[in-house]
Amino acid sequence: MRIDIITVLPQLIESPFSASILKRAVDKGLVEVHFHNLRDYTTNNYKTVDDYQFGGGAGMVMMIEPIDKCISKLQAERNYDEIIYMTPDGETLNQKIANELSLKGNIIILCGHYKGVDQRVRDLFITKEISIGDYVLSGGELGAAVLCDAIIRLIPGVLNDETSALTDSFQDNLLAPPVYTRPSDYKGHKVPEILLSGNFPKIEKWREEQAYARTKERRPDLLKD
Ligand code: ADE
Repeated sequence: MRIDIITVLPQLIESPFSASILKRAVDKGLVEVHFHNLRDYTTNNYKTVDDYQFGGGAGMVMMIEPIDKCISKLQAERNYDEIIYMTPDGETLNQKIANELSLKGNIIILCGHYKGVDQRVRDLFITKEISIGDYVLSGGELGAAVLCDAIIRLIPGVLNDETSALTDSFQDNLLAPPVYTRPSDYKGHKVPEILLSGNFPKIEKWREEQAYARTKERRPDLLKD
């Protein structure tokens, strides 16, 4: 998989790819991530990427020209399956979207800033708009990092234990059950007996019951689907 990230602040998004699971995925060649500084695609001397909005009003708008130049250059080099715009008014990211995107070959992620991008960028280039939640961030970079993490960990070979992504919360519309590790008794707080029993069918059944009970209590909306 190849991910091209277009941003005015590359330094805000580069670091998540230099540690832990995302770094391992990059090092193993399972994903290629390229950062494109939008200012490199400006034609004016000041490298400005934004301008006042027509009709007046507070806040600047990201101009179409540098974005067009950057996306068009990338599209001339290869085909893209999705061109995603990170924006608070997009579709809210969930596990289903992450699963679908993890199967794609090449994607572009455009990070918004200020009041967002000129609407014509959205009309002409964008195939998917994603929000990471109902709150407004200063820019799309942190959202793009969240999206990339959710996608990349699903690519086969990225996680050491292949099954661990399958048993994550949300994969089957259930939250994950509680987990424990040593010691089995910490200051009198004991691990549930069943987990020490070695009876794996019973343990599996207990985990399913716990996942269901936790989902019912915390996220009953998930059980409606
Ligand atoms: N840019 C600003 N806020 C955002 C959000 N909630 N999700 C994605 N991108 C954003």
